[in-house]
Amino acid sequence: MKHLVFGLLLLFSVGAKAIEVTHGPWICDMDSTSVTIVWVTDMPGMSWVEVAPDSTDHFYGKARQRYYDVLAGRKVLTDSVHRVRIEGLKPDTKYRYRVFTQEVAEWRYDDWVTLGKTACTDVWRGKPYTFATFPARPREITFLVLNDIHERAKFMKDLCKNIDFNKLDFVLLNGDMSHRLRSQQHMMEAYLDTCVRMFATHTPLFFNRGNHELRGQFADYLYRYFPTKNGHYYRLQHVAGVDFLFIDSGEDKPDEDIEYSGIVNYDQYREEEARWLRSLREQNKVGKYPLVAFSHIPPTLQNWHGPYHMQQTLTPELNKMNVSVMLSAHLHRYGYQDPNEVINFPNLVNSNNTYLLCHIANGKMEVDYVGLNAKDKKHFTFPLK
Ligand SMILES: [Fe+2]
Repeated sequence: MKHLVFGLLLLFSVGAKAIEVTHGPWICDMDSTSVTIVWVTDMPGMSWVEVAPDSTDHFYGKARQRYYDVLAGRKVLTDSVHRVRIEGLKPDTKYRYRVFTQEVAEWRYDDWVTLGKTACTDVWRGKPYTFATFPARPREITFLVLNDIHERAKFMKDLCKNIDFNKLDFVLLNGDMSHRLRSQQHMMEAYLDTCVRMFATHTPLFFNRGNHELRGQFADYLYRYFPTKNGHYYRLQHVAGVDFLFIDSGEDKPDEDIEYSGIVNYDQYREEEARWLRSLREQNKVGKYPLVAFSHIPPTLQNWHGPYHMQQTLTPELNKMNVSVMLSAHLHRYGYQDPNEVINFPNLVNSNNTYLLCHIANGKMEVDYVGLNAKDKKHFTFPLK
């Protein structure tokens, strides 16, 4: 009998699966003093990040600090997508970090909680991950733009084989990274796990939605994986002396198109976004630094409802903002347009088979347009206003 009990106990302890980090971490929404780190575990738990400046000191020295996943002062225990916001960092400084999630073993009633096993990254093997905050002052900036990958994770990896991600300040995913959003697993397999393996543990991943990210039963959950400081997909992101404007361009067809079954409302959304653009200008939140705009759908180059409605709402505001250049996507082919009567800034469209490697220095942005074929290569120079 004793042996049977022991055997059952052993079976139970072997069978009880330990919590694991299944996706990530990835860095998003970084500036010169703060960062958000996101990862996923296979069960809910209490999460935190441990951060220490990068130095020869042991990671567990005095400088190490712990930051929790909190919601309005309460540590989040009920989610398996973990978002830790870290503030008060030093500008232009390299940090080491590790992420931890401790499972909830028992939650009997009220807040009588017993925590169980802990999942973490790189404690026993390998080094902690690292990231470096942006400088507070202007300096040269290098970033990569990918868009319209449409679930071709392997192609994305091949396309980027010559990119040294350690030399980049950030990577912009400018929309349509998947055909639609079906589930967390689908999104991970479509591109996000590959982004984590390529760069996103150390180089910030800035996400800008495409029209295909607006489709599918999982579309409303996207924000959980790419949280932003202002709580919106459209936002202003400052990096080392340049303001980057993230335009969330919505769907390309009319809201009443049969494809959407009456569940979308992007005309009103673009109007709301245009009011936000106006408020940036009226509150002098733009104008101090050169302005570069990102938009999945280009506001011209296509006769369709989305761009047409952008011309009614967003571009009149952008035209008042001294935009130096817009980088857009969506067409699945190369496109370029000089300033004209509709947009008073140049617009470069990256195809679905190329990347843009952008370098800002000395008052201008140099852009290499690069695909797997050498013949695709193009170069652009945009003066920054
Ligand atoms: Fe698109």
